[in-house]
Amino acid sequence: MAKEMEKIMVTGSVGQIGSELTMALRKKFGNDNVLATGHKTPPSPELRDSGPFEFINVAKIETVEEVVKKYDIDTIYHLSAILSAVGEKNPQLAWDVNMNGTYNILEVAREREMTRIFVPSSIAAFGPETPLDNTPQETILRPRTMYGVTKVAGELLCDYYVKRFNLDVRGCRYPGIISYETLPGGGTTDYAVAIYFEAVKNKKYTCFVREDTRLPMMYMPDCLKAAIDLMEADFSRLKHHSDFNVTAMSFSAGELAADIKKHIPEFVCEYAPDFRQEIADSWPNSLDDSAAREEWGWKPSYDLAAMTEDMLKVLKQRHANGTLNY
Ligand code: SER
Repeated sequence: MAKEMEKIMVTGSVGQIGSELTMALRKKFGNDNVLATGHKTPPSPELRDSGPFEFINVAKIETVEEVVKKYDIDTIYHLSAILSAVGEKNPQLAWDVNMNGTYNILEVAREREMTRIFVPSSIAAFGPETPLDNTPQETILRPRTMYGVTKVAGELLCDYYVKRFNLDVRGCRYPGIISYETLPGGGTTDYAVAIYFEAVKNKKYTCFVREDTRLPMMYMPDCLKAAIDLMEADFSRLKHHSDFNVTAMSFSAGELAADIKKHIPEFVCEYAPDFRQEIADSWPNSLDDSAAREEWGWKPSYDLAAMTEDMLKVLKQRHANGTLNY
């Protein structure tokens, strides 16, 4: 007998995207139908108290199997990953979590004949030989970071499971994601989040990439929309599966600072590039996401001006209330 409701599991639910995606899915599908999982207790009481939570280590398949069985999970949003900057400090951990973790999720999903799996990729799948502007959907994938290596291998592995095992796996290559609920956990695009918090708190920020560093970016509401819309797309319309380019905007660090300055005139941004500059330089300036637009109707809502207005409104309010935790 068909189940009444999808039973969804989110891995990495304590992370930047996972924490907000869990709440968005709970709103849409009901609190009890969305299991949050992670390796540490969710700091947000909203996430902790609104629905079930279980500890898992995606690199240990038995911990995944146990909760999947217990909650009769049939859909997984697999968000746990070690990001690019932390991955360069600890490449072995990045391989273990990102590669073995993804393999374990796919294997459990295959064995249990799950309905659908979401595994995001990233602009980190590209590398210095990739065309930098309006990067095509089909292009050179030769990343230089361990995170990027695991993202390319993950895309290939997911597509393999679609073809070989008929498992419905979907994913998009996210650009840098900007949000105010949960801070990103050690990526190269983190400056585009930190700059807002520092601008509100201290009116000053030292950016770890050069002023002219341009990367594709997206505001969290669009990031959540991409995951949910892609998962709801008609399978028969999809020519791609796990590697859709998606983007919302592109700006340099200098343009971002200038946009914040329009709202906070005293704001000063300085630039002190570190090891993350080389990573940023190997990633595209902008992406061609026409395949996502054609195959599942992708359309973002926020540009830089709209995002800055919203980010600053929320952060200024928190600062005034004394709840700006950064
Ligand atoms: N935001 C990620 C990072 O910087 C890219 O997917 O590592």
